[in-house]
Amino acid sequence: MPPAAKTPPPSTASPPAPRKILVTSALPYANGPIHLGHLVEYIQTDIWARFQRMRGHTAYYVCADDAHGTPIMLKAEDEGVTPAQLIERFGREHRRDFDAFLISFDNYHSTHSPENRHFSELIYTRLKEGGHIVRRTITQLYDPQKNMFLPDRFIRGTCPVCGAAAQYGDNCEACGGTYSPTDLSDPVSVVSGSQPEERESEQLFFKLGDFRDFLAEWLGAGHTQTEIANKQKELFAQELFEWDISRNAPYWGFEIPGEEGKYFYVWMDAPIGYLASFQNLCAREGLDFDEFMQPGSDCELHHFIGKDIARFHTLFWPAQLHGAGFRAPTAVWCHGFLTVSGQKMSKRHGTFITAETYLRHLNPEYLRYYFAAKLGDGIDDLDLNLDDFKARVNADLVGKLVNIASRCASFIGRYFDGRLSDALPAPDMLREFAAAGDAVAADYESRRYSKAVRRIMALADRANQYVDAAKPWVLIKDPARHDEVQAICTQGLNLFRVLAIYLKPVLPATVARAETFLNLPPQQWRDAGEALTGGAIADYAPLLTRIDAKAVEAMIEDSKTETAAETVDAETVAAETVTPETVTVATAMKTAIESIEPIEPLSAQITFDEFAKVDLRIAKIIDAQTVEGADKLLRLRLDLGDGEREVLAGIKSAYAPEELTGRLTVVVANLAPRKMRFGVSEGMLLAAGPGGPDIFLLTPAPGATPGMRVK
Ligand code: MSP
Ligand code: ZN
Repeated sequence: MPPAAKTPPPSTASPPAPRKILVTSALPYANGPIHLGHLVEYIQTDIWARFQRMRGHTAYYVCADDAHGTPIMLKAEDEGVTPAQLIERFGREHRRDFDAFLISFDNYHSTHSPENRHFSELIYTRLKEGGHIVRRTITQLYDPQKNMFLPDRFIRGTCPVCGAAAQYGDNCEACGGTYSPTDLSDPVSVVSGSQPEERESEQLFFKLGDFRDFLAEWLGAGHTQTEIANKQKELFAQELFEWDISRNAPYWGFEIPGEEGKYFYVWMDAPIGYLASFQNLCAREGLDFDEFMQPGSDCELHHFIGKDIARFHTLFWPAQLHGAGFRAPTAVWCHGFLTVSGQKMSKRHGTFITAETYLRHLNPEYLRYYFAAKLGDGIDDLDLNLDDFKARVNADLVGKLVNIASRCASFIGRYFDGRLSDALPAPDMLREFAAAGDAVAADYESRRYSKAVRRIMALADRANQYVDAAKPWVLIKDPARHDEVQAICTQGLNLFRVLAIYLKPVLPATVARAETFLNLPPQQWRDAGEALTGGAIADYAPLLTRIDAKAVEAMIEDSKTETAAETVDAETVAAETVTPETVTVATAMKTAIESIEPIEPLSAQITFDEFAKVDLRIAKIIDAQTVEGADKLLRLRLDLGDGEREVLAGIKSAYAPEELTGRLTVVVANLAPRKMRFGVSEGMLLAAGPGGPDIFLLTPAPGATPGMRVK
C-alpha cells in the first residue's frame, strides 16, 4: 500500500536548539525483584528520556544494578550461591522486566564491573590526593559469632528513647527517635541472633565539610526541588561533616586501594555506577565520555531518584564528583513513594506487586499511562488505587483515545478502500491541536506529566465531540454524502495522530501500532503539525483493549500466594538505604531526611472503637514449658493481677522457657479462649519481628505490675 501523501506543515514554533543529555534512574539493588514502586521511577525517567529524543535532542539513558553491600552478601549466603551468581540472576531478571515495561535504556550495566572499579578507585584516589579523606577510629557493633561488623539495619534492640522492643539499630518505628546502635539496650544481631559487642576499628571518612561552600551554592541554584535542597541545607549548621566510606571485611564490594581488608561502602561506589554504565556505552558506541563529564561541560546530567535517597545524590554525590574533578549534576529530580490503595505495599495484602506478576495479568502501558496521569514535579507520594486505575485507563485510553481511531479508521477502511480525503474539512482545528504541542512539551520538560495528560485528554474530548457532532454513521446512509464522511474521518484520524504523538513518550508500543496502521514512519514531536491527507492507511488493528476487572483481581491473588510467607520486615532488612554512613554526620541529618519520608500504616485500618475494645494488660510469666509434640509452642502460665491464665504462644523458636519465667510482658486479655490442638489458649501475647529467632516479646517500662491496663 502506498504511503500517505503529506501536505506541507503549517508553521509551528522554531525547533529548540539540540541538547546533549545524560539521564539516569537510581540503580536497583540486585537482591530483589523489580516491583511497582520501583517502576514509578523507571517509567518517570523513561518518559522524560523518550520525550527528549522525540524533540530531536540527544539523550542517553543509562542505569545499572547496584550489586554490592552486606544485604547482597548475606542473601547469597542464605541461598547457598556466590554473590556473583546472585547478582547475575537478579541482573537478568531486572533487564527482562525493564524491557517488558518498555524502559528504553541505552545501557544497563552493573556496579560490579571493571568500569566501576576503575572510576571508584579514580575518584577515591583524587579525593585522597586532595586531602579530603581522613582516618578515624570508631566504635561499632560486632557480631562475634558471624565475625563481622553489623550494619545498623541488622541490629535490633530496645529503643533507648521510648523502650519499644525490637527496633532497628538506627531509628525507632514506635517513637521516631534516632540514635546510634550502640545506644540500644539489649541489642541482638539479626544475622546470628547473638549479642553483638562493641569493637573499635579505623575507618576512612570523606570530608564533606571541605565542600560546604560548593554544596551551598549547588543546592541554592535550582538543581533539585526546593524542599529537598532546604532539607540538606539544615545540615550545614553542623561543625563536623564527614561520611564513612569504608567497611571492614567480610564485605562484598571493591577493596580500597592501599587498605587491606577495607572495602568501599556500597553507597560510595553506587552512584559511580552511573559513570561506569555510561563509560561502557561510550566504549561500545564510540562516544566521548569526557565531553559529558568534564567540568564546565555544556552537556546535561539529570538524575531521577526517590526522595529516600536524596541525601546521597544531593550532598555526597555532587561533592564526590566535584572533589574528583568532574562536573556536578545538572539536576537531581526526586519523586515520592508509591502506595497501593492508600497503604504501603504489603505482601500480606497482595499489594506488594512485582513487575513480573503484573505482566502476567496486565499490559505494561496501562501502568505507564496511570503513573503519567498521576506524576507531578514534586515529592508527594502517589497512590495506585486499583479501581481508579481501571476506570482511568478504560475511560481515557480506550474510551477516548482509541475510540477516535477505531471509529474513523473503520469507515475509511470499509467504504473508501483505506484512502484518506485530499483535504481536511477543519484545518484550523488541526492547527490548534498542533499549537497545543508547546504547552504539552513544557509540561513534559518540567516533569508535570499529569498536566500534560490532562491537556491531551482535553484535546481527545474535543476530537470525539467533533466526530460526534459530524455524525458520520448517519451521513454514510446517504451515498451523496460519502465524500463528507471520508473527510470527517480523515479529520478525525489527523486529530488522533496529534494525540498519539503527544502520548508517544508514555505509550511507545501503542503509538508504534498506530504509526503502522497510519502508514507513518516513527513520529517526532515536530511532525504534529503535518496534515495526513490523500494517501492510504492500512487495516485498523485494535490498539488497546479495556482492563478486565478479573485480571486485576487475579494479579492481587497472585501477589498474595507468591509472597505471603515473607513479611514487610524481612523486606526492609534487605535494603541498605537507611543505614547512617557516619558517626559524625549526626542525628540532625537523619531527622531531616526522615521527616520527609512517608509514615504509613503497616496494615489495614480499624476504627478507634474497634481498637478500644482490645484489652491490653501487663502479665507476669510465672511458668513456661515446652509442649510435647509441638514445634513452635510454649505453654505459659500468666499472672494478670486478678488471676491466672494459660496461654499457648508460638515463640519457641525465639525463647527458651527458662528465660521467660519471671518476666513481664503485654497480653491481649479479652480474646475469646481458643481451642488449639494442644489445649485451650486464654489470651495472646504481643510480640514483634519477622519470626524464627526474631520474635520479640514486648517489655513494659519499669514500674509496671501485673494486671495494669496498657493504654
Ligand atoms: N540501590 C539504591 C540506589 C542507588 S543509586 C546510585 C536503591 N535501590 S532500590 O532498589 O531500593 O530503589 C531504587 C529506586 O526505586 C530508588 O530511587 C527508590 O527511591 C525507588 N523506589 C523503591 N521503592 C519505591 C516505591 N515504593 N515508590 C517509589 N519509588 C520507590 O535505593
Ligand atoms: Zn522509641
